[in-house]
Amino acid sequence: MSDVLRLGLAGLGTVGSSLLHLLERHGNDIAVRTGRPIAVSAVSARNRQKDRGLDLSGLQWFDDPVALARDPGNDVFVELIGGANGTALDSVKAAIGAGKHVVTANKALLAEHGVTLARQAEDAGVSLNFEAAAAGGIPIIKTLRESLAGNSVGRVYGIMNGTCNYILTRMEREGLSFAECLAEAQRLGYAEADPTFDVEGFDTAHKLALLTAIAFGTEIDADSIYVEGISSITTADLEAADELGYRIKLLGVASRTDSGIEQRVHPAMVPKSSPIAGIDGVTNAVAIEADFVGQLMLSGPGAGGAATASSVMSDIADIARGDRMGTFGRPASSLEPYRRAEIRAHAGGYYIRLSVFDRPGAFASIARRMADHGISLESIVQRRRAPREDAPGHPIPEQPQPVILITYETTETAIKEALDGIMKDGHIADSPQMIRIEQFG
Ligand SMILES: NC(=O)c1ccc[n+]([C@@H]2O[C@H](COP(=O)([O-])OP(=O)(O)OC[C@H]3O[C@@H](n4cnc5c(N)ncnc54)[C@H](OP(=O)(O)O)[C@@H]3O)[C@@H](O)[C@H]2O)c1
Repeated sequence: MSDVLRLGLAGLGTVGSSLLHLLERHGNDIAVRTGRPIAVSAVSARNRQKDRGLDLSGLQWFDDPVALARDPGNDVFVELIGGANGTALDSVKAAIGAGKHVVTANKALLAEHGVTLARQAEDAGVSLNFEAAAAGGIPIIKTLRESLAGNSVGRVYGIMNGTCNYILTRMEREGLSFAECLAEAQRLGYAEADPTFDVEGFDTAHKLALLTAIAFGTEIDADSIYVEGISSITTADLEAADELGYRIKLLGVASRTDSGIEQRVHPAMVPKSSPIAGIDGVTNAVAIEADFVGQLMLSGPGAGGAATASSVMSDIADIARGDRMGTFGRPASSLEPYRRAEIRAHAGGYYIRLSVFDRPGAFASIARRMADHGISLESIVQRRRAPREDAPGHPIPEQPQPVILITYETTETAIKEALDGIMKDGHIADSPQMIRIEQFG
């Protein structure tokens, strides 16, 4: 058997401590599989005194992850600190500079610096692996990068944020508001005290950016992803979706179009019959449409210490076996500049919910605005509410009634312009709700 592969582990939090437990439990087996014993030789975290329930005796301690990254006493630098810049970036750069392989679970770091770091790793002849960064325990990076190497990918999409999927699932099942479900997710530890990054779609966007680079061979451009979160979704939308045969999911979608690669993160209506519609709670799923394989979907835990450590270990095992793979599945120099397809050119069906004043001419003006922009309606549902009264027997005049429109395929520009016109006509009480319909197969 070869020499021990020595790991320098920076970060002993949720994922780092799980990685130590994993190695403790399966280290011998992994050595047999890879042909090389793997051992953590040194660690770094912020607080040396913290009781982590881990036996760190025999491991060298570094206060500074950058010093750990440079130290010749380890062969692989495992970055499990987090953050796009600062210590995580400095230490990964230092490790590559010292000629070490790097394994990271850090999506923020890669979404911002992935291409530069991949080039540096390639020049240094080392691996930069990140299986855990896109979907926690789901082996989507290897699937795209290696298993589908013989395919041209047309679309990759998925539910990549467990917090959002948990909230939408509970809202749908229990008829609770977004705020109530968010508070419950925070109580259960599924959502951060500041949930903005998750619920407004930015976390999904970081993950999508990484999948896009591998699937389409383009440089990462996380800033050009169109991002919309789930905080505007109401129980009225979920009920209407249910009646119309859809469910609402926060999707990250990257697809090849005539005008470039479209990348978008937003709540989407998905047909109940589609596999992705069946993904509930904190579970994640990523689906791929490719020319030779057709359609496939991987689902599982997108977060959590154990599941994420499982992916980190698979990257380490590759290094132990001597498997080297370009970070994004091809030489970094061959990644093409990202050609962005603008969201206004997006084509698809749309769900629109309007609060329409019950008055003559209102419907005619809505229908005219749609027709003026060449939009055909697949269905119109008026959900009559019992009139509210300001005194018994005296209904409040001109109460708005919810009206749901489902369009056939049209463009985002047409929809936006039609809705602007409808608002100008003054027959609706609130801003319209618009949710894109995602079709499959
Ligand atoms: N948690 C998940 O489910 C999950 C899933 C997928 C990917 N990831 C990614 O995995 C990475 C780690 O996440 P995590 O949840 O394990 O984070 P975490 O629990 O917050 O742990 C972070 C660790 O980094 C250490 N650290 C922070 N700043 C440091 C510094 N300046 N110097 C030295 N050590 C420092 C902390 O030290 P102390 O313990 O002393 O404070 C802690 O041990 C992140 O990039 C995250 O995005 C996490």
